Amino acid sequence: MDRETLAASLYARVTSCQLCALSQTRILAVPGEGPLDADVMFIGEAPGANEDKQGRPFVGASGQFLSELLAAAGLARPDVYICNVLKCRPPANRDPLPAEIDACRDYLDEQIDLIDPLVVVTLGRYSMAKFFPNQIISRIHGHPREVAGRWYVPMYHPAAALHQGSLKATMIDDFAALGRLLREVARRDVPVAPPAAKMEPTLQESPAPSPVPGAAKPVQISLFN
Ligand code: URA
Repeated sequence: MDRETLAASLYARVTSCQLCALSQTRILAVPGEGPLDADVMFIGEAPGANEDKQGRPFVGASGQFLSELLAAAGLARPDVYICNVLKCRPPANRDPLPAEIDACRDYLDEQIDLIDPLVVVTLGRYSMAKFFPNQIISRIHGHPREVAGRWYVPMYHPAAALHQGSLKATMIDDFAALGRLLREVARRDVPVAPPAAKMEPTLQESPAPSPVPGAAKPVQISLFN
């Protein structure tokens, strides 16, 4: 099956999902949006009030700031794929519950397999926890980690800077560094497998691309320590 068909199937299941109680309070589910062959995938937390009304991710104040941040990385919204850990809005924007994250997990995993991005950027603590368990965002924000040929970059959630203005400059710096990482990854010229083959490997199974001689890694994993 081609990517468009797989995405249509996924979006149809998400928009009619009844797996958790959020289906009773949502207006619209928010599956995600962006090019299905995007190199960069952003994963936020959960839809807010505006997203719930429009069925699209990051269309409110956080979304406006996200667009500014993307510009700092040399990106624009149409270049990237954007989705959330939860596909439905938690009432009053409360934090996601573990059962809600569990209920949505397969959708997100399927989405990652489908887009097969070179770089996953997590926005906030809940998407960070999926790839960086037991880490503290204030310690690891902006530091990429490569696992099996894919880069994972934990970022503060854009809403954090709206509540705490002092984080804004930090986030812009982190996104500027993301831009440098993307240019570095592009220079490595990792061969792109055809879509059918790309659906098969999981995170654990997919082989790491062979390093390109002379390609400097922009960030050391030791930055975590
Ligand atoms: N915050 C999120 O995490 N996701 C959205 O889509 C909007 C706000």
